[in-house]
Amino acid sequence: MARVVVVGSINMDMVVTTDTFPRLGETLFGTHFSTHPGGKGANQAVAAARLGAEVTMIGCVGADAFGGEMKATLAREGVDIAHVSTGREATGIASITLSGGDNAIIVVPGANHELSPEDIDRASAAIAQADVVLAQLEVPYATVLHAARRAREHGKAFFLNPAPAVELSGELLDLTTLLTPNEHELATALQTPEGAWAEVITRAPVPGPRIAMTHGKDGAYYADANGALVHQRGFAVEAVDTTGAGDTFNGALAAFWHLGIDEAVRRANAAGALSVTRAGAQGGMPTLAELEAFLNTQA
Ligand code: RIB
Repeated sequence: MARVVVVGSINMDMVVTTDTFPRLGETLFGTHFSTHPGGKGANQAVAAARLGAEVTMIGCVGADAFGGEMKATLAREGVDIAHVSTGREATGIASITLSGGDNAIIVVPGANHELSPEDIDRASAAIAQADVVLAQLEVPYATVLHAARRAREHGKAFFLNPAPAVELSGELLDLTTLLTPNEHELATALQTPEGAWAEVITRAPVPGPRIAMTHGKDGAYYADANGALVHQRGFAVEAVDTTGAGDTFNGALAAFWHLGIDEAVRRANAAGALSVTRAGAQGGMPTLAELEAFLNTQA
């Protein structure tokens, strides 16, 4: 069983469904409203836990009802929440508009931005026992960098899902084992032209991480040991809500990393596909049994 430490955000997602996205200044009637547990960090933690990994979450919520609910949700999923601290700000929220298979998201980080390097140090025993430390960028950059340094000190793999997109420093790139951007995040993270991703993936920076780039329902791209581009196709499913598909991919990649990159990406693609078949970022994330049953139907 893989041991995964997730450093990241915990949000309550407030989801509105509409027939069209509003234009600036326009008021529209929506068709549905719901709340779902979310946050890139919590989503990735839940994805890995459902797939059988032993997961510790390092995060921060507010001393409010959403914070209690989010911690209870993580605990129910089997995620260790001993390192989820309580900050002064409100629990993070994401305002999500869904329309015609697309989404638009505004995140208000709240307590997520209180996650500090000291919180990482308090969890150093968990990092020392981890196989993979997995982070995203909805918590402070300095905290992510600190987690990467601690992972390196303990000789652990450090995966960075660089979302939301920012330019990454040379030090963070050097400390990262695997970078998992989408096309836009890759261009921003490395300051490379948007269309040049194939070249960027096959000539990953040295020193620097290996890159596994997600490409929506098309699947994922990475370089093999000889530097040749590998494309693993996505799996065709009926999409209900694509929120959290990338997070499911990341959680699965960490959970299955010990199987090698080819099998880990294949399974992560399948998990990501299944995740979009139900509402909510975490709603469709498969269990290990569900993933295996799905893969058997694809063989
Ligand atoms: O990646 C999807 C997630 O992004 C949502 O759950 C939302 O909370 C934002 O963090």
